[in-house]
Amino acid sequence: MRECVVIALDFPSVEEAETFLDRLEPEEKPFVKVGMQLFYAAGPHWVERLKERGCSVFLDLKLHDIPNTVAGAVDSVARLGVDWLTLHACGGRAMMEVAREARDRSGASSLRLLAVTQLTSLDQRALNEEIGIPGTVEACVRRYARMARESGMDGVVCSGWEVEGIKAMGGHDFVAAVPGIRPSGEATQDQKRVMTPQEAAARGADLLVVGRPITRAADPAAAYRRIVEAVQNAGRDGCGLEC
Ligand code: C5P
Repeated sequence: MRECVVIALDFPSVEEAETFLDRLEPEEKPFVKVGMQLFYAAGPHWVERLKERGCSVFLDLKLHDIPNTVAGAVDSVARLGVDWLTLHACGGRAMMEVAREARDRSGASSLRLLAVTQLTSLDQRALNEEIGIPGTVEACVRRYARMARESGMDGVVCSGWEVEGIKAMGGHDFVAAVPGIRPSGEATQDQKRVMTPQEAAARGADLLVVGRPITRAADPAAAYRRIVEAVQNAGRDGCGLEC
């Protein structure tokens, strides 16, 4: 169950990320997410070291480029031995298909590809008025999720509010990874489509991506434990994923 909670290591340096990891229980081998900030600072070799440390690694690079470039990036990432990689669904069908082909060709069959639908920092107004996509967030997320599934992605990143529709469309094995997680009463910061860990798990989220509620907590190990317990209290007997 612990593995369903992915800690977003949004730190500016390797030193700060390692200090944080050392503050978790010493025997803890957490499931961690490395995003652009830390990847650009730490580089691919440190990501390989994280794997050697026994962590499952979710590399959140949100690839979005022409198909040929994204395929090359997937090929490079596949050599790092990470477990999950993100790319933007709005890059389109051809981009996702070649990403999947590159993953398959690389032989890194344990690398799973997740398509980001709409960022959890966006709300209805931003979608319609700034980005210019008409209709509801939910309809857009579901359309992107369907395209991602048809393109061979292993799942999507979405908010807790869209999980049920995605699981109904994609089925049990189509993974829903959910950021924008906030224990009740916590500041939402730049996130808009937020949900508590318990509710997101109850709605069927497979992976809960949690950053600041853990990394900026006075006691990160206790905050992490409370979120894992909230997921367990949602009455789920595990997401079934081997992370
Ligand atoms: O600190 P917080 O819990 O808001 O962190 C959420 C993490 O999930 C960040 O690392 C962010 O980049 C990532 N993320 C997100 N929304 C998405 C995809 C990824 O917030 N749609």
